Amino acid sequence: MPLGNSSAVLPAAQQSPIAAEVHRGLTARPKTLSPWLFYDQRGSQLFDQITQLPEYYLTRTERELFAAHAPAILAAAGKDAALTLIELGAGSASKTGILLRAALDQQPQLTYRAIDVSASALEAASQSLSREFPTLIIETRVRDYTHGIGHLPSLQWPNSRRLVLYIGSSIGNFDPLDARELLRDIRRQLAPGDCILLGVDHAKPLQPLLAAYNDAAGVTAAFNRNILTRINRELGANFRLDRFQHRAIFNPDESRIEMHLVSTCAQRVAIPALDLKLTFSDGETIHTENSYKFTPESATALLASGNFTVTHHWTDPWRWFGVYLATAV
Ligand code: AVI
Repeated sequence: MPLGNSSAVLPAAQQSPIAAEVHRGLTARPKTLSPWLFYDQRGSQLFDQITQLPEYYLTRTERELFAAHAPAILAAAGKDAALTLIELGAGSASKTGILLRAALDQQPQLTYRAIDVSASALEAASQSLSREFPTLIIETRVRDYTHGIGHLPSLQWPNSRRLVLYIGSSIGNFDPLDARELLRDIRRQLAPGDCILLGVDHAKPLQPLLAAYNDAAGVTAAFNRNILTRINRELGANFRLDRFQHRAIFNPDESRIEMHLVSTCAQRVAIPALDLKLTFSDGETIHTENSYKFTPESATALLASGNFTVTHHWTDPWRWFGVYLATAV
């Protein structure tokens, strides 16, 4: 029996969250990686590019909904109380300005708290919002609530009603049970009457759906493969990017887009920081992301399972995207 562990490599669970997740995912069958690994600096830039692609209707459609309905959304949320806006996963907050303008028209004094994993994105968002809205009180918090569900900071504010913004279809990247737990976590930190504004992507015909995740310029493919670049850089792995292909398919049984990286040959990959040697068969995949697509009924049911009641919702003429306002019950 060995007297101790003489290896310099720590068990994966004792290393960084990235090491632990890569170890967990790539030793699982089938192999998976959690989508939060996409968002290093390069991945965040690529995601910003995705949001501007002609095929990626999600961001554009949600922005149009805000442009058309922001005063109604804010009026519905803040009928009889001053609002504080709290955005989860704020990122560059590119669409939030439309809601902030409507909120400031409704109440001259407004606090906006932005929470995101990326300090640089928050800093940029905060600078541009304070230029655009000099009277807005902006608070930022660097937090990664997507690692697990329990890391959401406290949302306690006195004397005002809180409106939590969780937009951009981010909830769609959680499996249903995790999505429900996240909503319940948020709900536990709110008081009755506080609200959440949830932006979700709707189920729709296959052609536009698949095009949004298989864009002609290959930005989504680069975004997907960047996860391997990150593992090479941060864990010393030797993934060859030219041996993994991007694949995005729609799984109708689960109503979700799935993204995979497909090994184009039988190959071995080493991850020295994890003391791990992997084998891939030809065609084997790493499942990197799910993006769930909702109906008005399933979005309402999800919110209800998180203890929120939908009071209003807005959608576009094609019903491709939905924005749901729900009250904490
Ligand atoms: C961040 N999230 C809502 C995006 C989505 O559509 O599920 C991530 C993404 N993956 C590929 N393209 C965009």
